[in-house]
Amino acid sequence: MKRILVEELKPGMRFTKEVMIDSSNVLAGANVPIQESDIKRLMKWGISEVTTEGQLLTGAAGGSSVAISEQFNKVLDDYNVLISLKDQLIEVHTRTVKEVSRIHTAIRNDRMFNIQELTKCVEDIYNLIRQNRNVFLFVQRQENEKDTMAVHSVNSAIYAMVIGLTLEYSRSKVKDLGIGVLLINAGMVQIPLYIVNKEGDLNERELQQIKSHPVLGYQVLKNLGNISEDIAQISLQHHEQFNGGGYPKRLKGIEISEAARIASVADNYEAMVEKKSYRPRHFYYTAMKQLVATGARKFDPVILRIFISILSVYPIGSLVELNNKKIGVVIGTIKDNPLRPIVKMVRDEKGERVKGVEIINLVEEFDLFITQTIDEYKAGINLSELF
Ligand SMILES: [Fe+2]
Repeated sequence: MKRILVEELKPGMRFTKEVMIDSSNVLAGANVPIQESDIKRLMKWGISEVTTEGQLLTGAAGGSSVAISEQFNKVLDDYNVLISLKDQLIEVHTRTVKEVSRIHTAIRNDRMFNIQELTKCVEDIYNLIRQNRNVFLFVQRQENEKDTMAVHSVNSAIYAMVIGLTLEYSRSKVKDLGIGVLLINAGMVQIPLYIVNKEGDLNERELQQIKSHPVLGYQVLKNLGNISEDIAQISLQHHEQFNGGGYPKRLKGIEISEAARIASVADNYEAMVEKKSYRPRHFYYTAMKQLVATGARKFDPVILRIFISILSVYPIGSLVELNNKKIGVVIGTIKDNPLRPIVKMVRDEKGERVKGVEIINLVEEFDLFITQTIDEYKAGINLSELF
């Protein structure tokens, strides 16, 4: 009989014979990998050692559990990197919004502009998303910034750049994509504000004016900013739809540049999650469901699928309630387990703030599952305090 100290146990370990907690209780059957949750349970019960008649097995069969545990650790590492990047993201976001506003003002006044500063901002954003793609989690939190059109462009550009990175674009290609999406509203700033901000239905003349913004944007980028053809095309084509139902040219499928197809997904998603004067923002889960519902016709299906996989079913930052009535915030997802993310608990079953750090990996906690997503505003939880 071999005694094994609980602190020596590692997830994924398996033995040729069963591992016993005591003479009648089995921890893991023969050849069955020990789970992280098993080890936690032993620690919780104050059990310091287990026994087995078997030999420790090494090899690939226990790989899936080891892989889950490795991924879990990676999610935690990524999460810590993410937190450390928050201030930098907010700083570059604010700087980029200012720069886009400056360019919009130049366009409004029919003045030439350059994109030197904007390019620097895009480089800084690129360096951040290279470190952790999930930094987009923080972009929705910048509600103090007043220029909503510039904020929308910056947020959309960050989403687009993350898609570009996932498609393994080169550094310069991701940057061009970012600049193009940052300038997506170049035409919109030339349209009277009362039309842009109108809450009711637009009349035919107003609608035509709105629909002219891609062409206006393209022209102004070329004329006032000396912007390259590829980048200016993003503005020209960002309202084309994959099924040919968009404007201005009713282009179809791959007639639309790939960058513009990415811009379209990013622009539409951002429009759904942004706060409007006449409604609070949709939260991620609703926005994504809506995107999927309309997406089959409007968007490039491959790009849409990639974007959905980046956000996951429960995007990082979603608040979820578990069947034990506790509320947590999603901090990551293990590959192929989109419905069972890793959750950091924030409220206990009585609605009290959770003290200390409690992180649950739903892939390994078989008794727990998500019952619903929670709107942070309705729940009175300010997510920016949690990150
Ligand atoms: Fe637009």
